[in-house]
Amino acid sequence: MTVTTCIFDAYGTLFDVAAAARNAANEPGRERFAAHWKSIASNWRLKQLQYTWLRAIMNRHADFWDITCDSLDWSLEAEGLGDDSGLRETLLNLYWELDAYPEVKDMLKKLKSKTINTAILSNGSPPMLRAAVNSAKIGKYLDDVLSVESVGIFKPSDAVYNLATERFGCERHEVLFVSSNGWDACAAATYGFRTAWVNRMGEPVERLTAKPDHIVASLARIPELAN
Ligand code: 2OP
Repeated sequence: MTVTTCIFDAYGTLFDVAAAARNAANEPGRERFAAHWKSIASNWRLKQLQYTWLRAIMNRHADFWDITCDSLDWSLEAEGLGDDSGLRETLLNLYWELDAYPEVKDMLKKLKSKTINTAILSNGSPPMLRAAVNSAKIGKYLDDVLSVESVGIFKPSDAVYNLATERFGCERHEVLFVSSNGWDACAAATYGFRTAWVNRMGEPVERLTAKPDHIVASLARIPELAN
């Protein structure tokens, strides 16, 4: 069964969100944040995901930008930095100026040379994703950018993964789905995609409903897996 389409998660998979927070910690005058940035960045990401899952179960959708703001507010207050509006603005702006990981452009070029469809499928809101794609200068290597806002519910709902098969008119087994989130890769495997988990942090495999077909350390191997 040949892969015709490669679908990519966005944050942490194509875009290096952790580097953005690390850079902010190194800015002059950010000493208070620098002392706490690792726990703030970790809590921010965890709360961001928790809020997406909780809102999906509650059927109370809000877009990913609102959730990104809310989860940052929680994380800053948890470290006693809830009153630092300048820091809040600096960190939120990070999402509009993200870089792609170094291997992304070459990987996408190789997929396009194999006439494989490429797209992002993300919790991100359309404006957030447009900004990240433009900032990282990868738009010309993507056939589309798909946001959960089209269906009003977050990953790992099947309604989200359906967006990929509907957009490209393909069967689930023709898709190679790539994510740095272990839970996302496991859910996509359960859905019926072929899956590659980009395990950048060397974490254990999630004990969920399926396991990823491939576990890789970066995106560099994706073109060889897409066959
Ligand atoms: C995404 O981009 C949340 O990283 C996840 O959908």
